[in-house]
Amino acid sequence: MAKLWAGRTSGVIDPAADDFNSSLSFDKRLYRQDIAGSIAHAAMLGKTGILTPEEAERITDGLMGILADLESGALGFDPAAEDIHSFVEQVLTERIGDAGKKLHTARSRNDQVALDLRLYLRDETDEIEKGVVALAEAVTDRAEEYKALIMPGYTHLQRAQPVTFGHHLMAYVMMLFRDLDRLSDAKRRLNVSPIGCCALAGTTYATDRRFEAEKLGFGGVAMNSIDGVSDRDFVLELLAALSILMMHLSRFAEEICLWSSFEFQFVALSDAYTTGSSIMPQKKNPDMAELARGKTGRVYGDLISLLVTMKGLPLAYNKDMQEDKEAVFDACDTVRKCLEVFTGMIASLRANPEKMRAAASAGFINATDLADYLVGRGMPFRTAYKLSGEIVAFAAGKNKGLEDLTLDEYLSFSPLFDAGVFDAVDLDACVTRRKSEGGTSVESVEKQIAYAKEFFRS
Ligand code: ARG
Repeated sequence: MAKLWAGRTSGVIDPAADDFNSSLSFDKRLYRQDIAGSIAHAAMLGKTGILTPEEAERITDGLMGILADLESGALGFDPAAEDIHSFVEQVLTERIGDAGKKLHTARSRNDQVALDLRLYLRDETDEIEKGVVALAEAVTDRAEEYKALIMPGYTHLQRAQPVTFGHHLMAYVMMLFRDLDRLSDAKRRLNVSPIGCCALAGTTYATDRRFEAEKLGFGGVAMNSIDGVSDRDFVLELLAALSILMMHLSRFAEEICLWSSFEFQFVALSDAYTTGSSIMPQKKNPDMAELARGKTGRVYGDLISLLVTMKGLPLAYNKDMQEDKEAVFDACDTVRKCLEVFTGMIASLRANPEKMRAAASAGFINATDLADYLVGRGMPFRTAYKLSGEIVAFAAGKNKGLEDLTLDEYLSFSPLFDAGVFDAVDLDACVTRRKSEGGTSVESVEKQIAYAKEFFRS
C-alpha cells in the first residue's frame, strides 16, 4: 500500500522497517472509534464550509460503508497498511475518489490517534466499571449470607480479634467502591477532546472544535494544542487505577488461596473454579485466584512501561507514543477477564462455618475483650493489658481457652473479676459489642451492606 505521506520521500521503505513501524496489527481494534471520529470531523468540515455539504455527505456515506463492511467481514484489514488511520483513509479514497482525500483537512494523525484512544478507553472504562460493580455485588451477597459467621481476624497473619466473615468480605467491597471512584474520576479527565489540535500547533482553517467534541460526547476540548497531542495522562491514570484494582483482587486472591488450603479450610471453591493435578489425584487447586494474583504483575508492568516511555519525551508527538496502545489494551483485556472469572468464583464460594469457628475459638482472640472487661471494672487499660497477658499465658499453660477458666482461677489474678467475665470473653458477645461505626457487629455490618445495596440501586 502506498504511503499516504509519500512526497518528501519516495515513500518506499525497507520491509523490516515498514513492519517495525506499522501499528495496524494492534490498532485495528480502534476502527470503530476511528470511523466515528472521522464522521464527526466530516460533519464539522461541512458545517464550517471548509468542505461542501455534498463532499461531507459523500465522506460520511463512504465511512459508514467501510464500517459496515468491516463489521460484516466483507472488508479485511490490509496488513500492508501503516496504521488504522491510513487504512481507513486509503479505502475511503479508493471508494469515493477525491472527496476521500479531503477528509484529512484540518487534522493530523497526531490528534486523530489521541482522539481514537480516548474514545476507545472511555468505552473500556464503562465496561470495566460494570465488571467491578458485578464483583462488588457478588461479594456483598456472600457478606450478607455470612454476616454473623465468626472467624478470626488477623494482623501479621496471627489471630488477632474475632470478626465476622461478612465484615471481612465487606472490606473488599469498600476497596471496589474506591476503584469505581478512581475510574470515574479518570474518565472525567479522559473525556476531553484533542481533535483539532492537529499536528501540534492548531490550524489556519476556521474549524469548530467544540462542535466536533460535542458530537463525540466529550465534556470539553484540550485547551492547548501542544498538550492535546502530547498528553497520555489519560492512559496512565487508567493504568494506575487498574493497577490498584488488580492489587485489591490480588490480596483477595491470596486470601482465597490461604483459606482454601488444607491448613485453613475456611472456604471451599466450586469445582468450576478449580483445577486438578496431572499427577496428584487429591488436588483441587485455586488456579483462578492464583492467575488473578499473577496477572496483577502484568498490569503493573503495563503501567510502568508507559511511565518509562513517556518520561523523557520532548513535546509534542513522538513515535514512542505508539507504544501506549499495546500496554493499555493488554491491561484492559486482562482486568476484564480477571473481573469476570473472579465474580463467578466469589458467587460460588462457600464458607466452612465449623472450621472458622474452631479457629476463632483457639488463639486467645478474645484477650482484648478480657482487658476491656477489667477496664470496665475500674482498672487502667495498661494494667489490664498486662494482667490479661498473664492470664493468657496461664491458660495456655493449662491448654485452656479464656472461656474455659474457672471464676476461682480468674479471682486468683484479681478481686475485680465476677461471673460477668464469661460474657466478656464469649466470642459472639465479643462481636456483638463492636457496634462502633464500621465495626464487626452484625448490626454494623448490616449497615455496610445496606450502604452497598443502595449504591447498586442508584
Ligand atoms: N500509529 C501512530 C500511533 O499509534 C499514529 C500517529 C502517527 N503520527 C505520526 N505523525 N506518525 O501513535
